[in-house]
Amino acid sequence: MTRKILVTSALPYANGSIHLGHLVEYIQTDIWVRFQKMQGHTVHYVCADDTHGTPIMLRAEKEGITPEALIEKVHVEHSQDFSDFLVQFDNYYSTNSEENRQLSGNIYRALKANGKIANKTIEQYFDPVKSMFLPDRFIKGECPKCHSKDQYGDNCEVCGTTYSPTELINPYSAVSGATPVRKETEHYFFKLSECVDFLRDWTRSGTLQAEAANKMNEWLGEAGENKLSDWDISRDAPYFGFEIPDAPGKYFYVWLDAPIGYMASFKNLCGKADLNFDEYWKKDSTTELYHFIGKDILYFHALFWPATLEYSGHRTPTQVFAHGFLTVNGEKMSKSRGTFITARSYLDHVKNPEYLRYYYAAKLNGSMEDIDLNLEDFVARVNSDLVGKYINIASRTAGFIAKKFDNKIIPAQHTVIDDMRAAAPAIAEAFTARDFARALREVMKLTDAANAYVAEAAPWVVAKDESKSLELHAICSNALEMFRILTIYLKPVLPNIATAVEAFFDVEPLQWADAAFGLGSQTIQPYSHMVTRLEGKQIEAMVAANKENLQATEAAPVVKAEAKVESKPAEEGVYISIDDFAKVDLRIAKIVSAEHVEGAEKLLKLMLDIGEAQPRQIFAGIKSAYDPATLVGRLTVMVANLAPRKMKFGMSEGMVLAASDERGGPYILSPDSGAQPGMRVK
Ligand code: MSP
Ligand code: ZN
Repeated sequence: MTRKILVTSALPYANGSIHLGHLVEYIQTDIWVRFQKMQGHTVHYVCADDTHGTPIMLRAEKEGITPEALIEKVHVEHSQDFSDFLVQFDNYYSTNSEENRQLSGNIYRALKANGKIANKTIEQYFDPVKSMFLPDRFIKGECPKCHSKDQYGDNCEVCGTTYSPTELINPYSAVSGATPVRKETEHYFFKLSECVDFLRDWTRSGTLQAEAANKMNEWLGEAGENKLSDWDISRDAPYFGFEIPDAPGKYFYVWLDAPIGYMASFKNLCGKADLNFDEYWKKDSTTELYHFIGKDILYFHALFWPATLEYSGHRTPTQVFAHGFLTVNGEKMSKSRGTFITARSYLDHVKNPEYLRYYYAAKLNGSMEDIDLNLEDFVARVNSDLVGKYINIASRTAGFIAKKFDNKIIPAQHTVIDDMRAAAPAIAEAFTARDFARALREVMKLTDAANAYVAEAAPWVVAKDESKSLELHAICSNALEMFRILTIYLKPVLPNIATAVEAFFDVEPLQWADAAFGLGSQTIQPYSHMVTRLEGKQIEAMVAANKENLQATEAAPVVKAEAKVESKPAEEGVYISIDDFAKVDLRIAKIVSAEHVEGAEKLLKLMLDIGEAQPRQIFAGIKSAYDPATLVGRLTVMVANLAPRKMKFGMSEGMVLAASDERGGPYILSPDSGAQPGMRVK
């Protein structure tokens, strides 16, 4: 029976880069989704950037751009990171979308109509300089318990005490440095306290892992008890988010519209893929809905979210799957140790995303335990399992098929193959249960059996005896069939390798059911190596690069919050490493021609010689400052490795550098005499 399944991963905040911790979640979900798709089920995997809230608003302000520009920039970056890690969303959207605005408004109205919304006047800290109410995280002061200075408004990082910001001694605003004042304001609340009975049933009905259900029991208390408080869902302006219907100046708290972002991303997909939104979200839906999340956001997904859905007339999640946190070398990811590793720096240094996918899969078992990335073990494991065992089966036998048998394989038959086919249900069961570690243990056992078979059959010995050609053909065809079956089982984890294997066998994309039947006699493609060894020095370079980033950050002057100035402290991401800079290929370029472009207000079309066979065509926004005739023959500087961009007037194959601000410009650059076209600028 084909099932209809909607799957989500948590929506990453749009104010930071994706790091290896995040990837535990997205890789886990992606493997599960790919596995379900290979079963032939209809699966939609949606996600989005979580774009609202105070931190994003303040970050944009600090960068001197609008929040919209910030989240747009991050969306591009996140999308690229996910796609480079082979995380294949069916839709990657944004919570700052029209769909989300409407859904959030509708859900709020439905909750209100159900009597689940209350207004209360509360007292909150207010920053008189910035004229804004301060979230707990933006108030700092002295811990009331251990008297450590500069602690956040919700808990002390030194002694671990939790408290409310009003208990801090000498509080100050982390935004302006000003002393906050207490001020009254009206807030909107979701009456969660009235949802306890529903939530007690829901959390105990098989929707959560046992460990998560126990946690919920603690939070909910025993029958008759009521430990839940109402949930504050509003924030005052200025706030980057959605204004609450009929409540000017009041905005939805980011965690109200964030999970609705799951719906909104799906709604947007429905428009593109001709799907029925209501079929998936209406109260009595027969489709399945799964949320993959980290254990830190369980409260939101196991209490607020199901209650929001239930009391606004929607279906509730089929299951919520929580996972643990990533540690690196047994410790919390650390910037000073260089183990706070961004997705991008992994890609720069280690390159192959499938190493990490494999390693995470080998560690994930469907529980909420933390998982450890031990960097030495990572190298050893990837090389031993993927290169030494799995790929080895093909690399030791495929050459004979090419050399001796004109690339033809014959039907395979062997007890090891029978065992492999028989293992399909057990491996599928492990994938289904998100126990990828168990699935891979099974697969590796079979891989060992295949290698033992090849070692014993010794095709390289048999090949020396011309009279044993038939035997050699059978051995190699058997080994390749084993390799093909193993590839099917590994495909959810290693989709790129699987694609290469499909091309090698010249077959359609492999499905789970293809493990049951072997190939007939057929011609395959010449084998080329599919995975290379991972070198320890790649890991060292990655760790060093992450440390380097930090040193640049630390060296910068730190502006104390008390200084009461608009602080622009050197924070994460402001500096780039030398490696980052080296990525930009700057070249001396000679302007061979320059001309006006019909219909373009700001652009000139330049042809630039950078020592290549053909000059590059570039559209530069410098028309306001230059007469094309005066440019011809000049030397300037261009970015040579910018991805070519299709513009309205043609392809632009790079970018010319120019200076400008409110005082004038653009002014293009000129090198000192002696520089030649094509020289690298560094
Ligand atoms: N924006 C919220 C989620 C809203 S969902 C409606 C959020 N964003 S996040 O960027 O902080 O985290 C996104 C996901 O990555 C969360 O599920 C979180 O648990 C997970 N992880 C973030 N850091 C992680 C580790 N170090 N280890 C494992 N997972 C981690 O929370
Ligand atoms: Zn303390």
